[in-house]
Amino acid sequence: MDRKQAIRTIKERLNIADIVRRYVELKRNGPRWTAPCPFHQETKPSFSVNEEEGMFYCFGCQASGDVFDFYARINGLEFREALEQLAAEAGVTLDSRNGGRDAGQARRERGVRQQMLRMYELAASHFAQNLTEDCGGECRDYIERRGLSPAIVERFGLGWARREWSALSAVLHRAGFDQRMAVEAGLLGRSDRSGRAYDRFRGRMIFPIRNLSNQIIAFGGRIIADEDEAKYINSADSPIYKKGDQLYGLAQARRGISARGCALLTEGYMDVLTLHQYGYDHAVGVLGTALTPEQIKRLSGFTSSLILLFDGDRAGRKAALRSSEMLLTRGLGCRVVLMPEGEDIDSLLRTAGPEAFEELQRRAPDGLEFCVHVLRELAPREGVEWARNFLTKVEVPELFSPYASRLSQHLGLSEAVLRQGVAELKERSKTNAGQTLLSARARTNMRDREILMYAVRYPHRLEDLRQCGADMVLTSAIARALWEKLEEYGPEEAVYHLDEREKAFWTKCRAGEAPPRDSGDRELDALVKSLDKFYSVSQTSSLLAALRENARSGDFNAERDYLRALQENWERRNGQS
Ligand code: UTP
Ligand code: MN
Repeated sequence: MDRKQAIRTIKERLNIADIVRRYVELKRNGPRWTAPCPFHQETKPSFSVNEEEGMFYCFGCQASGDVFDFYARINGLEFREALEQLAAEAGVTLDSRNGGRDAGQARRERGVRQQMLRMYELAASHFAQNLTEDCGGECRDYIERRGLSPAIVERFGLGWARREWSALSAVLHRAGFDQRMAVEAGLLGRSDRSGRAYDRFRGRMIFPIRNLSNQIIAFGGRIIADEDEAKYINSADSPIYKKGDQLYGLAQARRGISARGCALLTEGYMDVLTLHQYGYDHAVGVLGTALTPEQIKRLSGFTSSLILLFDGDRAGRKAALRSSEMLLTRGLGCRVVLMPEGEDIDSLLRTAGPEAFEELQRRAPDGLEFCVHVLRELAPREGVEWARNFLTKVEVPELFSPYASRLSQHLGLSEAVLRQGVAELKERSKTNAGQTLLSARARTNMRDREILMYAVRYPHRLEDLRQCGADMVLTSAIARALWEKLEEYGPEEAVYHLDEREKAFWTKCRAGEAPPRDSGDRELDALVKSLDKFYSVSQTSSLLAALRENARSGDFNAERDYLRALQENWERRNGQS
């Protein structure tokens, strides 16, 4: 059956309400079925299913679609996978032959993916086998030293990559796999000089990464001794794996997450394993990147409530802020646990025990509260600006009011003032007042530029920029990315990791010269002043607008609040506080 016809037949045979009912409790409401939405946090039912149309939709978070969309989203699958699984359930055979003009191409791609999956499967069993043989002795010792139980080793399919250069490549060759494809799949590397292929993972403990169809799609590998190499290497992106799309351990944790109605999000491979070993079977790892929208989408099918575990240091808190921001604006709820200095959850569980972790969880602030606290600590001047920016990003309309009300309380600002600033931000970016006034977005972009210009010219002074909270207020994605690279790779290395756009900006800032040798004190001074001015101007303008608005309604209390805020602002600008 061709794809179109298959989709039609599956929809005829499977009732969308029956499928949805497996995951949420539906209540009859006239011609529709309703429930609290499984994709965002809520208590009142804004999610409905229309059997006749074969559609679902949510007024809250605007999720909508047909039975395939629902099934894919709730199971964290791609459309293609959902189609395959539902086809099997409906007894429909998908035909790969006549699917239009690109069928040949599509078939080839499917073929490549299938081959790669088989290669990974074979590689994983090769690695697991190594672990049981003589050559795996050193890795078994390491596993014992780290205290990993045999049950965990088994459940996560850990393995050992031999120290030879062509152990895996020989295995793949014997099984008849194409060497070029193995290179493309990231299992083998190729020497630039000799053109020979070699094993990429050597002398490493192997962590297989599975997708939600339980297929192995990538590996992480850790050195196990004091070796002068990267601690972990990971599979590069390939036709079957995209970094940032997956979560480590989700295949093993999905039941735990559903059962507990909540997921634990952590950074490392080891953290996930140890959490599971201690019974926290709802733990997943972000795999060495910042949390991404794709990962959130994957998770949101299982739960809309997360506990984030982050380092307590500055970088950790900043990452926690970004992650919370992303989750909250998308309608998921989170709480944030910060690890004590120098610990990760793996070491904490092993030294202080689960009681200590339970206590940390009990005390964990809710995401929004956490954001406000962190800003107060790290960038005290940015709170209001951040809050307004946050509110403009809220994707779930019904959450806008509760967020605005809680933020205004936390910030000690009247809700009207806060909202007015948001309305203005939105208005300005809509009407793009490019002619006379700079739009709010253009102004924030200019500020981003100013900050980054300084950072690129004086990379050794990143710390000073951090001190004044400059990095916390970067708003554009490009500015944030460039900053992260400067931080991650340092002033010397960063330039090798830039994309075209970033490189152009970099070159412009450096004007083809080496970075200036002077300390940049004067420029930093100027930058800080300009940041100060930016805030007081943007706040003043929104306060004035709020006052004007208020004059019509004549609310005296609100008026007093605005005036007080204006005055504070004015004093600050004139260096009186
Ligand atoms: P950590 O350096 O905190 O390691 O990196 P860890 O997870 O605590 O591992 P152990 O306890 O030392 O064995 C956190 C995560 O960042 C990614 C990995 O996913 C790692 O688990 N990472 C780290 C890399 O991808 N490459 C690296 O070189 C280092
Ligand atoms: Mn660790």
